[in-house]
Amino acid sequence: MGIVKRFEVNALFFVGLALLSCGAKGARRGLVNNVATVFDVTKHGAIADAQTDCAMTWNAACAATGSVTVLIPPGKYLTGEVYFQGPCTSSITVEMQGTILAQTDLSMFEDNQWFSIENNDGLIIKGGGTFNGQGEKSWQHDACGGKASCNNLLTPSLVFSNVSNSILQDITSVNSKGFHMKINYCHNFTAHNINIIAPGDSPNTDGIHISDSDLITIADSTIGTGDDCISVGEGSTNVAISGITCGPGHGISIGSLGLRQDDADVKGVTVTNCTLTNTTNGARIKTWHGSTPIQASGIVYDNIVMNNVRSPIFIDQNYGSKQKQGSSSVKISDVHFKNIRGTTVTNEAVALYCSATAPCEGIELVDIDLTFIGVTSKIALPYSGACQNVKPTFVGKQNPSPCTL
Ligand SMILES: *[C@@H]1O[C@H](CO)[C@@H](O)[C@H](O)[C@H]1NC(C)=O
Ligand SMILES: *[C@@H]1O[C@H](CO)[C@@H](O)[C@H](O)[C@H]1NC(C)=O
Ligand SMILES: *[C@@H]1O[C@H](CO)[C@@H](O)[C@H](O)[C@H]1NC(C)=O
Ligand SMILES: *[C@@H]1O[C@H](CO)[C@@H](O)[C@H](O)[C@H]1NC(C)=O
Repeated sequence: MGIVKRFEVNALFFVGLALLSCGAKGARRGLVNNVATVFDVTKHGAIADAQTDCAMTWNAACAATGSVTVLIPPGKYLTGEVYFQGPCTSSITVEMQGTILAQTDLSMFEDNQWFSIENNDGLIIKGGGTFNGQGEKSWQHDACGGKASCNNLLTPSLVFSNVSNSILQDITSVNSKGFHMKINYCHNFTAHNINIIAPGDSPNTDGIHISDSDLITIADSTIGTGDDCISVGEGSTNVAISGITCGPGHGISIGSLGLRQDDADVKGVTVTNCTLTNTTNGARIKTWHGSTPIQASGIVYDNIVMNNVRSPIFIDQNYGSKQKQGSSSVKISDVHFKNIRGTTVTNEAVALYCSATAPCEGIELVDIDLTFIGVTSKIALPYSGACQNVKPTFVGKQNPSPCTL
């Protein structure tokens, strides 16, 4: 679905890119025969002066056999769009020790992505380095946010497409222009010990967005950003999220689902052992009005601590109600919110707004203990839980008392 067409189109853009080279673009071709185990980018034209533009690609490493490492030594490197494009002869390890800075001139991101990491099997990216998207300049244009014509203001930092059996670890992403990371059409991909940093008011800077992917693990990471810390989008199956410290940000969300006609089901998402602080939402499932009839099922949020969270537990099937007509047809079922405790700053701590056309089924709340600490005063008390088109089951403690609104 969609995937084949997408790669055919993109393939046109990837012909003839050389290994990482600085200054005169394309001057470094012909390195393909220079087969070595470690490809040190500074020996292939990269200059760590934070100024010279490095068109960072990796065709030589990709063509090499044996155990292949691309080494990015300590230092600061400046780049525009970068393509880590497979399929490669061997699995590649990128040992990233330096800091890579994105160009701030948005016209340099024609494909609307900074690092495009595509068609790779067994790729490992590690090394303690930093991707700095230098997004501060593009955030100022948020007045046109959402419009297609503004899309390249939201250039994501790392886009993984069709990457399988791969690991991303010990990497920092700072101040992305748009999303920090997108994981699309991937299979068996693990990200752990990742640090994601952007201001709470930076627009659309989702931490990690997953879609059309299977067997994805995000673990033991710290994410503070201006939108969802993690969003699990359409077509995601078997996603395990654990040990995440989130905040500031918009929480750990499933969705938004059902915006496009070809959106696919979401099945099997577990969010375990996470702490959210000062976030606008906590555990959230959001689906669009006027959507296609897809399913979101087998979802577990377990052992989550909320500190000063605005909407700790939130099913929102009215997402985009201003833009799209008709209630949501996304069927939400088999969802378990377990052992969720801490503090909330709005009086509607548990809000389950399900669709009239596709009421939620099999929603369970187990041991919920959220203390209202009353920071917002706009919403009328009492402290309570809201339910629409849903008959949840309850086990153990329930604070607030559920379904009172
Ligand atoms: C996905 O990547 C693999 C290499 O890992 C490649 O063989 C395959 O052709 C790619 N699929 C598509 C649809 O491009
Ligand atoms: C997933 O990828 C990792 C890293 O390459 C590998 O060790 C593991 O065996 C893979 N798991 C599955 C189920 O394919
Ligand atoms: C969550 O934490 C518990 C207690 O420390 C641990 O036993 C469990 O393995 C953790 N789960 C995940 C998915 O990390
Ligand atoms: C949360 O907000 C409080 C009050 O504004 C602030 O003191 C604290 O540093 C914030 N913590 C995080 C992790 O954002």
